[in-house]
Formats: sequence, structure tokens, C-alpha cells
Amino acid sequence: PTEGSPLTPVATVSRYACQRRTTLENHNKKFTDAFEVLAESYEFNNMERPCLAFRRATSVLKSLPCAVRCLGATQDLPCLGQHTKKVIEEVLQCGRSFEVEELLSDERYQTFKLFTSVFGVGPKTAEKWFCRGLRSFSDILTDHSIHLNRMQQSGFLHHGDISRAVSAAEARSLRSVIDGAVHCVTPAATVALTGGFHRGKEFGHDVDFIVTTPELGEEESLLPNVIDELKKQGILLYCNYQASTFDMRKLPNHHFEAMDNFAKCFLILRLESSQVEGGLHCAEGDIRGWRAVRVDLVSPPVDRYAFALLGWTGSRQFERDLRRFAQVERGMILDNHALYDKKKKEFLAASTEKDIFAHLGLEYMEPWQRNA
Ligand code: CTP
Ligand code: MN
Ligand code: MN
Ligand code: MN
Repeated sequence: PTEGSPLTPVATVSRYACQRRTTLENHNKKFTDAFEVLAESYEFNNMERPCLAFRRATSVLKSLPCAVRCLGATQDLPCLGQHTKKVIEEVLQCGRSFEVEELLSDERYQTFKLFTSVFGVGPKTAEKWFCRGLRSFSDILTDHSIHLNRMQQSGFLHHGDISRAVSAAEARSLRSVIDGAVHCVTPAATVALTGGFHRGKEFGHDVDFIVTTPELGEEESLLPNVIDELKKQGILLYCNYQASTFDMRKLPNHHFEAMDNFAKCFLILRLESSQVEGGLHCAEGDIRGWRAVRVDLVSPPVDRYAFALLGWTGSRQFERDLRRFAQVERGMILDNHALYDKKKKEFLAASTEKDIFAHLGLEYMEPWQRNA
């Protein structure tokens, strides 16, 4: 029987990424690559709705067990609107989308892409610079009326290195660096890899870790001490530390874009070539003997560990849909700190990610199945 024939019942695909097991194997890359350009372009133009629509469509196609070969195969899929179907049709017929091709050669898109590739530069700053007529890094760096904050200064300084992907081997090496520093300051503390590498990705833009202590309250001094230790080792190239503003009495916030309130730091570390199995993934760095890498550390209180781990494991689309599912389907509010049941007016405690899925009435999904 052919695909989509009435004789072959196809399991319905959920509207929520948290009900779709999505591995890294993407059979629809030619469509999702096109969608991602469109989503990004809408983001650059501050058009949240169409941006999200393309991100959702991307995520649905990523979850499919095979490639879409005709438009008919998409008819029962959720989250695909007219615009996305038009792009799919174009790609099916011509192998590419003209709208996407046009964007890729568009000056505004290209400039935003370049500027937002700098650590510390988001769409708002890119917009400001673009409107001033700036188009290149040298335009920015030679314009003395432009003030760069400390993060952006480091972003430009290390741009060559940190715009290059981090490999899984580099992530493993950083894990032992962080492990060493954490255990040096607090022997009982634990370190867990999270983010994209925890989902099994081969490459990432940074490496994310959660560190915590078994003793509630001890996490307060953990990151400042780890940062001091990294400084002492001479490998701290940049550090933005944000102390905890966590208030356990506060209700969770279902708005995904709201950042969590745990103590965290956004770092740039120096990684030695000799410490990475097979050498650095960055050719220039390999010649130099070291490279700069972006590392994020977050340190929740131990009783919030499961929520923090679930929130930081991602993917972003998986997290967005988890919160939307909790809100719309269960009347609960979920964020990186807590889960709150609005009907029962009570917080639901969890010591593992499995507990949270169970509270939400969701089948458990392994991190490698959360690549939505
Ligand atoms: N995150 C968060 N709060 C932040 C930063 C990140 O909750 N202030 C979460 C995001 O929701 C994401 C996860 O942490 O799910 C990892 O974020 P990030 O490192 O940006 O993305 P990755 O999925 O790790 O992908 P990449 O390989 O590009 O780093
Ligand atoms: Mn990451
Ligand atoms: Mn990160
Ligand atoms: Mn709302």
C-alpha cells in the first residue's frame, strides 16, 4: 500500500512536541532547513506569530519517521498552515523555495545573521546597528559612537572560535574541567551535562551543565567559588554571573521566554587542545594549541533539580510545548522551577524528570527523544 492510502492507518501526530518522540534523525531536512530560514527572518522582523508557526512546523516534520514525498502526505499533520504547505510544494517541485533563496541573498537577513552571530548581540541590537547603516564587523568596530557592553566585547574578541561548533569530544573534555573545579571547591557537589549534548547532539554552540549540592542552601556559594577556581586555573576568558533571584513562594511562569531565576553564569573558557581526544574541532585553535568555548552553568537548589534539568535539557521547542501542554491540557503551570496545579491550588513536587512527566500525565521521553 502507498503512503497515505486509506488502507494504511497512520498514527496521528500530536500537536505537542512533548507527545512526539523526536530523535536527531531528521528525514525532512530539506524542508526544515527552509522553514528555519523563514522562522529566523520573522524573528529578525519581530513577527512572533509566523516565526513560531514555522518553528512548530519544523518540529512536526522533524518527528516524522520518513520523508514527505508528496503534499498529500502532509494533510493529516498538525501545525502546517498554507504558507508552510506552499514552501513544501515548492521544495517538492523545484528542490528549493524561491522565498528562502531570496531571503538568503537579502541584505537585511544577511546582516542580522552576521550581527546576531556575536555573543551578546540579539535581534534588537542587530536592528539598531542595521538602521544606522552598519553592515560589517569593521563598520561596528570602527564606529566610535557605538558602545559595546562587556559581553559584546568578548563576543567580538572570541568570535572566530565561538562561532565554530563545539564537538562532543570537546564537551567531554570540558565536563572533566568543570567536574574538577566543582569538586575542588565542594567535594559533595554534583555536575550533570544538560542542553544539546545531553540530547545526544554531535555538535553544539555551547556546553551546558547543572551543578548542585545535596545540602539545601549550599548551592548559593557554589558558582562564585567555581568561577574563582576557573580563574585560578587561568582558563576563565569571560564570565557573566547572575546571582539567584529564586523565590519559592512565587507561582511558576508559563511564558517560555521568561528566564529562570536560578544562579547561573555564561562563560567563555579556554580549552587546551592537548586535553581533547583527537584534538580540537577548530582548526585555528589546533594550531594555536587552545580554543575559546562557550559554557553555561546553572545551579538550582537541590529540591528543584528535576525541574531545572527538564528545563535545561531542551530542545527549546520541546520546552515551549511542555509548558503549553501543561497550561492548555492540564490546567497546570510549569517552568524551570516548579509545577503548579491551578485547580488544586498546589505545587507538585518532583525529584526526577519522570515524576514531572507523570504529574503531567505524559509518557516519559528520554533526552535523546526530545530533539523537537
Ligand atoms: N535555557 C533556559 N534558560 C536560559 C538559557 C537556556 O531555560 N537562560 C534552556 C533552553 O530552554 C534550552 C536549554 O536551556 O532548552 C539549552 O539552551 P541552549 O544552550 O541555548 O541550546 P541547546 O539546546 O543546548 O543547543 P546548542 O547546541 O545550540 O547549544
Ligand atoms: Mn547548549
Ligand atoms: Mn546554553
Ligand atoms: Mn499568557
